[in-house]
Order: sequence, then structure tokens, then C-alpha cells
Amino acid sequence: MSVSKPLPHDAAPLHVTGQARYIDDIPVPANCLHLAFGLSTVAHADLRKVELSAVRSAPGVLAVMEAGDLPFANDVSPSAHDEPLLATGTVHYVGQPIFLVVADSHLSARKAARLGKIDYVEKPAILTVDDALAANSRFESGPIVWSKGDASGELKSAKNRLQGRIEMGGQEHFYLEGQAALAFPQEGGDMLVHSSTQHPTEIQHKVAEAIGVPMNAVRVETRRMGGGFGGKESQGNALAVACAVASRATGRPCKMRYDRDDDMVITGKRHDFRIDYDVGFDDEGRISAIEFLQYTRCGWALDLSIPVADRAMLHADNAYNLPAARIESHRLRTNTQSATAYRGFGGPQGMLGIERVLDHVAHAVSRDPYEVRKVNFYADAADRNSARRTPTQTTPYDMQVEDFVLNDLCEKLAKSADYQTRRQAVADWNAKNDILKKGIALTPVKFGISFTLTHLNQAGALVHVYQDGSIHLNHGGTEMGQGLFLKVAQVAATSFGVDLASVKITATDTAKVPNTSATAASSGSDLNGMAVKAACDTIKDRIVDFLGERYQTRDIRFADGLLYIGKESLTFAEAAKLAYENRVSLSATGFYKTPKIEWNRVKGKGRPFYYFAYGAAITECVIDTLTGENRILRVDILHDCGASLNPAIDIGQIEGAFVQGAGWLTTEELVWDNKGRLRTHAPSTYKIPACSDRPDIFNVALYEGQNREDTIYRSKAVGEPPFMLGISALMALSDAIASCGDGYPSLDAPATAERVLTTLNRIRS
Ligand code: MTE
Ligand code: MOS
Repeated sequence: MSVSKPLPHDAAPLHVTGQARYIDDIPVPANCLHLAFGLSTVAHADLRKVELSAVRSAPGVLAVMEAGDLPFANDVSPSAHDEPLLATGTVHYVGQPIFLVVADSHLSARKAARLGKIDYVEKPAILTVDDALAANSRFESGPIVWSKGDASGELKSAKNRLQGRIEMGGQEHFYLEGQAALAFPQEGGDMLVHSSTQHPTEIQHKVAEAIGVPMNAVRVETRRMGGGFGGKESQGNALAVACAVASRATGRPCKMRYDRDDDMVITGKRHDFRIDYDVGFDDEGRISAIEFLQYTRCGWALDLSIPVADRAMLHADNAYNLPAARIESHRLRTNTQSATAYRGFGGPQGMLGIERVLDHVAHAVSRDPYEVRKVNFYADAADRNSARRTPTQTTPYDMQVEDFVLNDLCEKLAKSADYQTRRQAVADWNAKNDILKKGIALTPVKFGISFTLTHLNQAGALVHVYQDGSIHLNHGGTEMGQGLFLKVAQVAATSFGVDLASVKITATDTAKVPNTSATAASSGSDLNGMAVKAACDTIKDRIVDFLGERYQTRDIRFADGLLYIGKESLTFAEAAKLAYENRVSLSATGFYKTPKIEWNRVKGKGRPFYYFAYGAAITECVIDTLTGENRILRVDILHDCGASLNPAIDIGQIEGAFVQGAGWLTTEELVWDNKGRLRTHAPSTYKIPACSDRPDIFNVALYEGQNREDTIYRSKAVGEPPFMLGISALMALSDAIASCGDGYPSLDAPATAERVLTTLNRIRS
């Protein structure tokens, strides 16, 4: 059985030998044209005059397009039609595309794009949370509030109470392959687009609108991305639409890829947040009531900010049973890049809010933060019927938590990682050493799985069995390195009882499977795995019907590359040939929609998630109190993937996600100047974790168990949840700083060396 085996990524040999084809590697005809955008250099202005004669006469330039040259829709927004491909009269951020250069090479397009002379009438730019609040610059008419119980009343009667604030930065996706698209004009005005996108159907939709054709005239193909991380859910629209529009105008293939600096300046990033909290608790640290104010900078256009901010609210409880809670969310409009999806989709920000609260409360009651977390955990599913526990427990949005495992999971992790002993060892070290101080922290993750926009929880598949028994597999999910194609191929191979080598993995293609959702919300294998299984089942049923009649038995099994038919057997290939010759259809579509979910976002009540994925991490770090420099020394993780479809892929996802999450909270800092210019737009100034930053000791294990819900082979989604294990790195740094003084550090993120040092100096004085 292929499912549950730790198989290596199907394209790993291609990745490491450089043979894997990304958009920029697709061979193009000699007449292919290359595109670049001319960008706004100011954050907010009306365009008085756009003078492009130098651009037009630059070497190699064939055409230059402005908003007025676009014959159909000028819009690349995934949500609110508020994002023109090319600016119309006003620019809203530094980096906004104003005009499009079409040239005979990538370099000549980029050089020409610098030659525009633009006369701006500058307007005040709203850059920060405080700017936006002062100007009441926001999406939606006011804040969104969801609540459970009477939090403000309960706060007043709480035994202890404290308030605080945490600020957390955004994050650049830093996918290794930058945004890219390639359009080939077809006969009769049709268009074929290759796009590095998590969402081919949306590319198809936006391209169709932009070139004035129905969706059936546009075909989008995506073989793989060199990383997406949410940054290719919507941010690829502009390049694909630009290529299609230019192809339509010139009749020639057009390609566009952003140079790294342009990519960082133009595209949206993770939302940064400010979270204010007010919490009531007893002497053990048990929370009785809490209020959160979440402020987020959404940037200039709506993009996916509403569901991102919603998910931050939905994760404000993380793993804790909050008797009374009030969460107020402000979605602020600023003159910066339009912030977008990024692994966790707001969940990490909401979760960091409550993890900070737990840490702060533990400090206030002078208890081990893990002990304080434990008294606040939801009850484990296994313990729910015992007398010690309350029979029902709901999140602040009224969803029953039925599958909780973190009491057990954290206990097992604390044991395997020797948490108690090491906590004491850290304290002993700190008592003896003045310069280098250590810290340790355990933080848990409970992450909701499903798109909160219920209708997105659907998927389709297309499976062919050829007459030689080989299988062609296609589905709506996209491959971005996460191993989705392999997992889904394992499902098909297991279903037909054949070797994985019989299954051909093929590129995502809007002409094979229509109306797909973005590969996002970690639900790729849940949704597409089930759709593929449904398609395989249809074909198997037809084969069983046919052979059953011929052999007069219903006892037919698919295993070991064979069909066992009563006492006889055929190879899968023989069965396929026989079925074909007897005119049995060997091609089928499959479809799946997630059951049980319903969500009322106006009320903030319902069951937005099919289930939760769980995990916990213990991080130990050391800081140099003279410089603020720090290192992660050791990380232990226990993570719940249900019955893993592929433990090797899942452990890889967990390791990568942890490092990416720790990067977000430690070294990755986005800096905008007071003109709204992003000053950190290259690896020289923006520091993602390197190999050398990974922990020296890095123990990752999978929690034994299977999904209570009937997911594909009882597995659980793994793409995003372990990202939030990185929160333990920030809490460990905070723990190290706390050893240097009496006050609570209130360490903001990212905890760069500079911020560690200033925080240290603050609590020392
Ligand atoms: N892993 C790799 N290697 N590259 C990626 O771009 N994206 C993450 C996660 N893991 C990503 C990744 C994000 S944001 C999501 S939502 C999921 O993968 C999407 O894929 P899945 O639904 O198949 O898990
Ligand atoms: Mo992932 S942020 O849902 O693409």
C-alpha cells in the first residue's frame, strides 16, 4: 500500500539536478516578448502627467500600455474589484504598476520601465496603524466584534487583571521562484497561460475578463511553483493578466517575471498586527475573561484581508477554553503593498496574541508558563466523558471542540524532551552566567482546517486508465513543493492497488478540472485526495461490474498490481485491456465537498472548521546580553498529522514550517521609511533563516493517532499548522530576557538582535 509510506518527493531528483521546469524554463519561440511594469515612486498621489516618450523610444521596446490602452477589465483583485492592473489617475503605494513595457528582452523591458517621467500631485500617505486610526482609514464600515459571554463584566470581577500590547511584523514570502507568467496566443482569440500560481482558476477568470472572452477561451496550466506560501494565491494575477493583454495586442507570446527587488516592492506580504489585551485570571493563572483588540494593516486594496483578519479572530483562543471573550478586529487601509495570504492566513497573528497573554499571566502569578497553559487547555477528547471534565466546551465562536488532544500531546512532548529537567538547567545556567542567558518555552498549536468561505471547500479530479494499465492523474490542487502531487498519487495507487510508478502525475490544468479553489488553507490533500479517490472508485466500480458478470463473482479485490477475482487473478494491465476491449469506460471525474461545516460570519458563530490540527514545540535558545544576538539551540516538536499519508513529506513540512515561523518572529524584519518606501527589498537587507540558523538539535516526531473525522485515509492537513510552532522561539527569547530583570519583557516581534537588546535594557533599568 502506497499510502502511509515515507516516500521521497516525486520531483526531488528533478529539483536537485536542475531539470524541474519552472515558468522561466519553458522553451519559448524566438518571437516571445518580455514585460516589465513602470512603478509608482510615491505612496499616494494623483497622476498629473505620465510622460512615456523615452520609454517608447528605448532600445528593444515594442509597445507601452497604460490603463487607457486596456480594452476590457482593468482589474486584478481577487475580491473587491479595487485593484487595477495599471493605475487609473491615482497611485496608492510605492511600487504600484502605472504602465506596462513590452520589449524584446527581459533586460530591455526593465531598463525602459525606469525611463517614465511621472508628474505626481502628492497626497498625505497613511502608513501606520496610528495614521489609519487617526484618519479612520479602514475596510468595512467599522471594527468586527465576535464574543462569548460577558467579557467586560467578568473582567471587573476577576481576582487578578492585567493589560498589555504586542506588535508583530509582517513577512515577505521569499519563495525561491519569483512571480512569473507566460502567455501563448491561440487561434480565434483563445489564450494559453502558464502561471506560477496557487490558483489557476482565478488566473483563468481574471485573464478572461481582461481580454474580453469567456472562461472557456482561456486555459491555465501550472506544473509547479518554486514555493508559494500564500504569496501566489492572488499576487500572480497581475503578471498573468499583463501577459495575456500584451499577447492579445501583439499576437505574440509574452513572458513576465519579477526581479527579486520588484517582487518584494510590488507584491503583498503577511499582515502585520498590533494586539491589545485585557485579561482576568485567578492565582493559578486560570483565565476567566479576556478582551482582544486586533489591528492589522491591510495595505491599499482589499485582496484577501477580510478572511485573513477573520482567521486571526478565529485563532484568538488557540488551545484555551476561555469562559468569556470579546475580540474586536480593525482592518486598516494603508498606503502600502496590499497584504495577502501567508502560511497560517492570520491564524499565526491571532494565536501569538493569546500565547503572549499566557506568558504574561504566568509571569504575573510566578508559575511555569507550561503549567499555566495546562490549567487553561480545553479538555482532551479522551477525557471528555470523565467526571473531572465539563461535557461540552466551545470556542469563542461557538464551535464544539470535540477532537482536542493537547493535554496528552504536550505531556508526551514534555517527557520526551525532558522539559522539567531542562527548565531547571536553564535556571541554573542563568544563575551562574552573566553574559549568556538561556530561555526555554513550550507552546501549543490548535489550527482550524477548512476554508472559512464554505463554498471553497470543494475539489474535482480527472483520472484516466489507459489500455496498458498506466494511469493519468489530474486534480485541482497545485504543487508548490509541499508534496501534494505525491500524496494524491499515493491515494490513486493505493486505490487501484498498483505501484506508484504506474501513476503519472500531471500539471494542474483548468481544461481538465474546472472551477477549482486555490490550493490553500492546508486543505490540498484533504480535498483533492478525496476527489481523486472518488474518481478511482467510479472506474473500479465499472471494472468490478464488468468482470463480476464475466466471472460470476462479486469477490474482486485490487491489490499488489493485480485484480483478485474469486480464486483467479489478472494483472491490473490485463484487466484494463479487457475492460477497454469490452467497451468499458476507463476515465472518470471525481468530486468532493467537505461535510459538516457551516459558518455565519456576520454573527461569528458556527462550525467553520471540519476539524483541528494540533502540535506543540519546545524551543531552547541563548542570548548574548551584550549584543542581543541569539541562537536557537534545540527544538523538540510533536505534531499531529492524523494517520499520515506520507511521514517523510509531513516531517519535512513540519521542519520547514517551524523554521519559517521562527524566521517571522526573529530575524525577518520589514522596514518602511516615512515616505512609505520599503527599505528591505532584497536578501541583503531582509534576513530569512539560512541553513546555519536551523537548531543544532531538531527532534520532530508525529503524534500517534488518526483523524476522528472521515478524511482521506484519516490523515490531517499539515501545510500551515506547524508554522505556528515557531511561536515557541519568541517565547524562549522572552524567557531568556526575563531572567535579566524583574519586569515582564513584553518582547515584540520580530525579535531581532536589536530588539532583544532594547527590551533587555528596558527590563534591567
Ligand atoms: N510547503 C512548501 N514546500 N512550499 C509552499 O509554498 N505553502 C504552504 C504549505 N506548505 C508551501 C508549503 C501553505 S501557505 C499552504 S496553504 C499549504 O502548503 C498548501 O498546500 P496543501 O494544502 O497541499 O498542504
Ligand atoms: Mo496558504 S496561506 O493558505 O496559501
